[in-house]
Amino acid sequence: MSLVFAGVCSHAPGIVGRADQADPAAKDRLYDAFADMRNRLEASEPDALIVVAAEHFANFFMNNMPSFAMGMADYYEGPIENPDWLGIQKTRIPGDKSLSERLIRKVMERSDVSYAEEWKFDHGIMVPLHFLTPSYKLPIIPANINCQGPPLAPLNRAWAFGQALREAADSVPERIALIGTGGISHWPATPDSGKINEEWDRRFLDEWSRCDKDAMLSYDDTQSYIDAGQGAFEIRTFMTISAATEGIEGTVHFYEPIPIFAVGCTIATINL
Ligand SMILES: [Fe+2]
Repeated sequence: MSLVFAGVCSHAPGIVGRADQADPAAKDRLYDAFADMRNRLEASEPDALIVVAAEHFANFFMNNMPSFAMGMADYYEGPIENPDWLGIQKTRIPGDKSLSERLIRKVMERSDVSYAEEWKFDHGIMVPLHFLTPSYKLPIIPANINCQGPPLAPLNRAWAFGQALREAADSVPERIALIGTGGISHWPATPDSGKINEEWDRRFLDEWSRCDKDAMLSYDDTQSYIDAGQGAFEIRTFMTISAATEGIEGTVHFYEPIPIFAVGCTIATINL
C-alpha cells in the first residue's frame, strides 16, 4: 500500500507544557488545527504512523550519532521529560517490530539508516502524538534525522531519506501514514527563545507547500542559523515529507507565531 496520509506539524514542548500561559484564543486556534489534523489522519485509516522527528539528545549522543535512524520495537516509552513540565503523562506507545523491519530493509537499499530496538520518545514525538493519537492505539514507527549535533545530516540526504521512506511504504501491504515534526524558525533553549522569524517561516512554508525541491535544498545551515536559529535545522523533517510525496502540493492549514510556545506553530498536510 502506498502512503494514505502525509503532513507536518510543530512539536515545541511549550505547546502543551505552557498552554495556560498563551493567549487563549491563539491556543484554541492551534488546538483546533491539531484536532482537524487528527480527523484527517483518522479518516485515512492508517495501520501505522511513521513520525520523522528531530530528537534532542534523548537517545542519540555525540559518542555515536546517526544521521538517520528508525525504531524497530514492539513498543516505546515516553515522554523522557518530566511529565509535569511537558504536560504529558508517561505512557507506553505501541510499535510494530515486523513492520519496522520490513520498512528498514527497504529504506536501507537507498539510505544508510541506523535502527534501534530501544527508543524513549521526547517531546519531538510526544507532543504530536498527544494531539494526533491521544489514545496511543496506533502503532508508531519513529524515525530521526540528526538536526542537533554537527555535522548535521545534509539536506540532499534528508531528501533521499524521504524518497527511501516512500519506496518502503509502497513496498508493504499496510496503510502507512507519515508526518514530519520540527522547526521552523526558533531559538529553543537559548536567551532568544520566543523569537520567531515569521517572514522566514512563511517563505519556507510557501516553498514547502509548492514542493519546490530546488528552493528547499538551497538552504544553507550557517545562514539559517543566523536568520532562523538553530531550531531551523529541523526543516529537514518537513523536507523529508516533501521528498516522500514529491510532485504533490501541500496545504498549510495553520501558521501562527505564538511566542510563549517559542515557535511559529504550523499544521499542514500533503494533498494526497
Ligand atoms: Fe525540536
